[in-house]
Amino acid sequence: MLADNKGLLAMDESTPTANKRLEARHIPPTEAARLAWRRLIVTAPGLSEGIGGAILYDETIRQTLADGSPIAKALADYGIIPGIKVDASTVPLPNHSGEVMTEGPDGLRKRLQEYKSMGARFTKWRAVINIGSGLPSRAAIDTNAQTLALYAAFCQEADLVPIVEPEVLMDGDHSLQRCAEVTTEVLHSVFDRLYRMGVDYGGMILKPNMVLSGKASAVQAGIDEVAEATVTCLLRTVPASVGGVAFLSGGQTPDQATLHLNAMHRDYGKLLPWPLTFSFSRAVQQPAMDAWAGKEANTAEAQRLLTTYTNRNRVARQGAYQDETA
Ligand code: 13P
Repeated sequence: MLADNKGLLAMDESTPTANKRLEARHIPPTEAARLAWRRLIVTAPGLSEGIGGAILYDETIRQTLADGSPIAKALADYGIIPGIKVDASTVPLPNHSGEVMTEGPDGLRKRLQEYKSMGARFTKWRAVINIGSGLPSRAAIDTNAQTLALYAAFCQEADLVPIVEPEVLMDGDHSLQRCAEVTTEVLHSVFDRLYRMGVDYGGMILKPNMVLSGKASAVQAGIDEVAEATVTCLLRTVPASVGGVAFLSGGQTPDQATLHLNAMHRDYGKLLPWPLTFSFSRAVQQPAMDAWAGKEANTAEAQRLLTTYTNRNRVARQGAYQDETA
């Protein structure tokens, strides 16, 4: 799935998130619009050059292309392994204002069987950690780490590869250093719980955030600083036997996300014990969705942009991306 310098495409936005992205571009947030967008992605010529697997959402895995073929089957026919988001999104963590936990372990074993019968070969679960004054709490880290480990164990039991996504958000005015401390703490806890739960590291993929300055911080770390802080954090926390590491973009611009991935490979590529790649949603979909704007006539241009941006990250995975804006 991560071979040939490819990455993953996150197209698993929940319905509220997908609608938010459509509304931001003045596209009516209907099921028809969500389906049109997802059909555009799946049928983009050459998408499989840079993408080895695509993460779907429950709504999408039940949908078909215009010719009636199920979307999961169409992806597989194009050489892209279909996966599925299986968490049920976040809810407030009790007794901990400003923190969340992810719902979804109830009934998971049964849901996994259904998704598998529909063609899914891997899964994703996202946990969210906020940085703030006094945050994250030990309770938030422990609860989310435990739930991620439980999820991963259920998936391996079902012979599905879990993507374990503990996302430390970039919202806030914290420093790069603070993000590094929190991400390190979170990843240590996640791997501790995965170990105790008997999860096989070789049969899972970690989907972490990059180590970044908070979005509202007056001091923004440069590309090389982010690359160094991120690689240092991962080398300290992620066992060498983990099957792969695929970053989320988390609100970075497409250029930022690509340049960060590129600098990690250019400067530290030989030190990395695991495949290190991308599993972006916004940082590859954004330019294409802007160009599409909900109009069928713009489909070809949007598809061209989508593959342009996915292929840039494939080049970044080899440390060979040249910044066209520099
Ligand atoms: P972004 O790349 O937009 O952060 O999305 C990745 C993802 O899967 C979030 O859960």
